[in-house]
Amino acid sequence: MKLLVTAGPTREPLDPVRYLTNRSSGKMGYAMADALARAGHSVLLVSGPTRLEVPDGVDFLPVETAAEMFDAVRRHIGRMDAAVFAAAVADYRPAAAASQKIKKTGETLVLELVRNPDILGSVRDEFGFNGTLVGFAAETENLEANARDKLQRKGCDLVVANDVSKPGIGFDSDRNEVLLVFPAHSEVLPEDEKHHLAPRIVREIERLAAERASA
Ligand code: C5P
Repeated sequence: MKLLVTAGPTREPLDPVRYLTNRSSGKMGYAMADALARAGHSVLLVSGPTRLEVPDGVDFLPVETAAEMFDAVRRHIGRMDAAVFAAAVADYRPAAAASQKIKKTGETLVLELVRNPDILGSVRDEFGFNGTLVGFAAETENLEANARDKLQRKGCDLVVANDVSKPGIGFDSDRNEVLLVFPAHSEVLPEDEKHHLAPRIVREIERLAAERASA
């Protein structure tokens, strides 16, 4: 199969020396790209800035902002059989990036933020993608209900949900515990290394893609 994987945080500039970002390390998305390539698939990894090495045999398209990630996905999604959206995309960006470094003046500073496009949420309707679609959900409460809502709203075949409020797993950790949320059921994958969970999730994606192909 040909797959696109998004991973990492996005970085939204405020001025030439500052940006807004989040705690995503990119480890889960890179583990997915690696496991997919090892399983013999052709992988394009569209990634925000991380400290990770690009897995062997994976095509790499680095981006910084959500807008750049949106454009990269729009350009490449058409030739993909499946897509995995593991990036932690900033929901908002500064309304305007200042061209010069912002100087300290008043005692408070108010930033105006505007909504970023929902990349995964654009894939079905706006980009017309008909392949297998996998989203990720990082939640701090109501894990299953929030993930199931995302599955339906964004037209996913699977949402991989993790509780980022649990210590020692999720953001910036090598370990994770995930809930696989499918349209008709859910399944827990107990805590393990991200590199062990990823091949399990790959097998589910292969199964979903085979089902879609035979439907
Ligand atoms: O709605 P929420 O951000 O929690 O959804 C998470 C899922 O949507 C993840 O798969 C993430 O990669 C994707 N997403 C996206 N573009 C955004 C926000 C989230 O692709 N702007």
